[in-house]
Amino acid sequence: MDYTPQHETCVIDGAARCPAPFTLVIFGASGDLTARKLVPALFNLHREGRLPEVFQIVGFARREKTDDEFRREMKEGSAQFSRFSSVEGSEWQDFAQHLHYHVGEFPDTEAYRRLSVRLQELPNHEQIGGRYLFYLATAPEFFSVVAANLKEAGLLPDADLQQLVVEKPFGTDAASAAKLNASLQSSVAERALYRIDHYLGKETVQNLLYLRFANSIFEPMWNRRYIDNVQITVSEAEGVGTRGGYYDQSGALRDMVQNHMMQLLTLTAMEPPASLDAESLRDEKVKVLRSIPSFDTTSLSDRIVRAQYEGYTTKPKVAADSKTETFIAAELHIENWRWSGVPFYLRTGKGMARRSSEITIVFRRPPSVLFQAKCGQHLARNYIAIRLQPNEGVHVRFNAKTPGRAVLQPVDMDFAYKSEFGSYSPEAYERLLHDALLQDSTLFTRDDEVREAWRIVDSIQKQWSMLPMHSYSLGSWGPRASAELLKRHGCRWLAEDPRFGQV
Ligand code: BG6
Repeated sequence: MDYTPQHETCVIDGAARCPAPFTLVIFGASGDLTARKLVPALFNLHREGRLPEVFQIVGFARREKTDDEFRREMKEGSAQFSRFSSVEGSEWQDFAQHLHYHVGEFPDTEAYRRLSVRLQELPNHEQIGGRYLFYLATAPEFFSVVAANLKEAGLLPDADLQQLVVEKPFGTDAASAAKLNASLQSSVAERALYRIDHYLGKETVQNLLYLRFANSIFEPMWNRRYIDNVQITVSEAEGVGTRGGYYDQSGALRDMVQNHMMQLLTLTAMEPPASLDAESLRDEKVKVLRSIPSFDTTSLSDRIVRAQYEGYTTKPKVAADSKTETFIAAELHIENWRWSGVPFYLRTGKGMARRSSEITIVFRRPPSVLFQAKCGQHLARNYIAIRLQPNEGVHVRFNAKTPGRAVLQPVDMDFAYKSEFGSYSPEAYERLLHDALLQDSTLFTRDDEVREAWRIVDSIQKQWSMLPMHSYSLGSWGPRASAELLKRHGCRWLAEDPRFGQV
């Protein structure tokens, strides 16, 4: 650990570390994810000198294409989606030489034999020494097929050298996730399986750990004695857009709650891990999930609100009589020593008032004895809002006296990433790809995490039909029932505060 007293900066992780020479094979390389996220992220890493000199990237997909065509497509994608605006000049030329394309059908075993030969023919293959990362960016029904075929072609002989990165969704319920797990684990050891949840790659999500465990002012209050409730909002302004086909089969619960929202919840609620290594961290996260009881009929109708935005059923590839939720609000309880009695309110939806991901820690009201005569029974609550996106930052609200008058008013203290660190913020996929190349699985989800998250989500999903489907207008904060959920507790969703998102 590097310690620089004059700036009090402490270098903890390996952003500066460089992975060993590698070949990355992306399955599903004709898909959106490759052009929008994966290759731009790799290009950014390359530009910043965070990739080794020797590496190869092979796109594997069904469509016939030459290396040059693949390079051209990736250049267009990177020009549009890389955080560096320019892909002209020698930097792209240099990067593009590392890109190759391999045509093949995912179920065709012969294509993997050809791939194996191809990998040996790529430049510098001796230096790469069998260090392969296989990225499954295919439709989920191909995950097991690709893994099994890689194994059969002898491309996964050593879990220390070859790893599989698996995109979401990881199953559609606990049973299908368990089946997928079992089939992947028959091709590769658990430690070589990297399940992606791109929320874990977001800077601000990682900052949750630093905020909690690198400060002495927050952690002592981070429990049921001081905290009244916790609110996690991930709202999106856009509707389902062109993804109606996928989304209508999934819905907000499976698309967002089982993965991203559960990750935010566990990082907010977990105990301090014994160390920052992957297993210690993931052990603590899974303990949180285990402490959340499955929903029964009563808790379901009391604590879950589902809704669909008006006009959703007219969208392309959405069934006209669709009962898929585009919004969910839930009250969860973590039955452990730290959190017993503290509701965790989660909500997420499409077509909402604005894009905003935020965790709000709401404190118990201060006693009002001194100010009761003037200010009534209830002083405003203090809270800490952790804004994950956009306008990333941390925002503390407390009560202060208005100058010249004996009036209390809530005021804010703000930390904004942009004003402190400038606008640079690496993309989630940069961090995750770099970590996978370094064989650091800390920010990837483990099989037991996935299982526990599905257990909770399944208990909701199985009884979905007994809940009313509310509706809400596009551009709103969801149905009234979602506000009622908090009102019962004497609270409201604080992420709707108009002052939020201003800084
Ligand atoms: C994806 C979901 O996992 O996350 C999408 O499938 C959602 O429906 C997206 O829009 C949100 O991610 P972000 O990074 O834009 O908040």
